[in-house]
Amino acid sequence: MSADGLTSGPPPGARADWTIDQGWENYSQAEHDVWITLYERQAKLLPGRACDPFLGGLEALDLHRTGIPDFARINEELMRLTGWTVVAVPGLVPDEVFFDHLANRRFPAGQFIRKADQLDYLQEPDIFHDVFGHVPMLTDPVFADYMQAYGEGGRRAMGLGRLHNLARLYWYTVEFGLLQTPQGLRIYGAGIVSSRAESIFALDDPSPNRLAFDLERVMRTPYRIDDFQQVYFVIPSLRALLDATLQDFSPIYERLSRAQDIPIAAVEPADQVFTRGTQAYAISRAAA
Ligand code: PHE
Ligand code: FE
Repeated sequence: MSADGLTSGPPPGARADWTIDQGWENYSQAEHDVWITLYERQAKLLPGRACDPFLGGLEALDLHRTGIPDFARINEELMRLTGWTVVAVPGLVPDEVFFDHLANRRFPAGQFIRKADQLDYLQEPDIFHDVFGHVPMLTDPVFADYMQAYGEGGRRAMGLGRLHNLARLYWYTVEFGLLQTPQGLRIYGAGIVSSRAESIFALDDPSPNRLAFDLERVMRTPYRIDDFQQVYFVIPSLRALLDATLQDFSPIYERLSRAQDIPIAAVEPADQVFTRGTQAYAISRAAA
């Protein structure tokens, strides 16, 4: 994800587009071990939870190997599959830089990895979240097109002053999306698959609402960045997600400028409900 409100140039050592060398040969064994620990934990948990395009992408890119993947190696396969590449950045990048990379089918990934004592939570996306979480879905041709279109849409939304609405779409799809399948709900969101606890919570916990994806509804729904989500949106297929977003958003933005936000835990009369949550988790956290 991108950093809000940053207008300064790239940090020292970074290129004008904020990319840096991954410097793969410089990772320590301890850093590789963090990757392996996280990878093995998630690889055990995700079959039957993550969607097939994600699990297939994980296989296709062979992301486990012996530790942190070398972008040069991933990029050969990813470029062949969908024309995407992964580029290293020092951390969060300004919105316009982020969108420009996506629009050119480049995914900016944090170069650093979390420390062994931060396996479960960290504030800024690291290489495990960015590469394990996001990159497998980029092997899917439809999702690959969606991400590029999102980058183009981001630039437009900035110009129209509606980036806060579009950011919610990213959040509730790319980061925290669920997919309906004949076998049940499956995860495709990177924020979920890269988190052990949320991989369980998002599908199994009685607390959150699980609602059918509706574009305008999603863009009116605020989100939490500091805890499990209170609502997840379920798409019927990746194709349906792409199709819903190919339309010109200008009339939607126009309506959104006059519409009110929907409270995060609300279930609206028009919502198609998969699970009506108890919100017990959110309530217990608010009381703590
Ligand atoms: N179609 C959107 C627009 O007109 C752009 C977009 C595409 C946004 C895909 C998000 C995802 O602005
Ligand atoms: Fe992310």
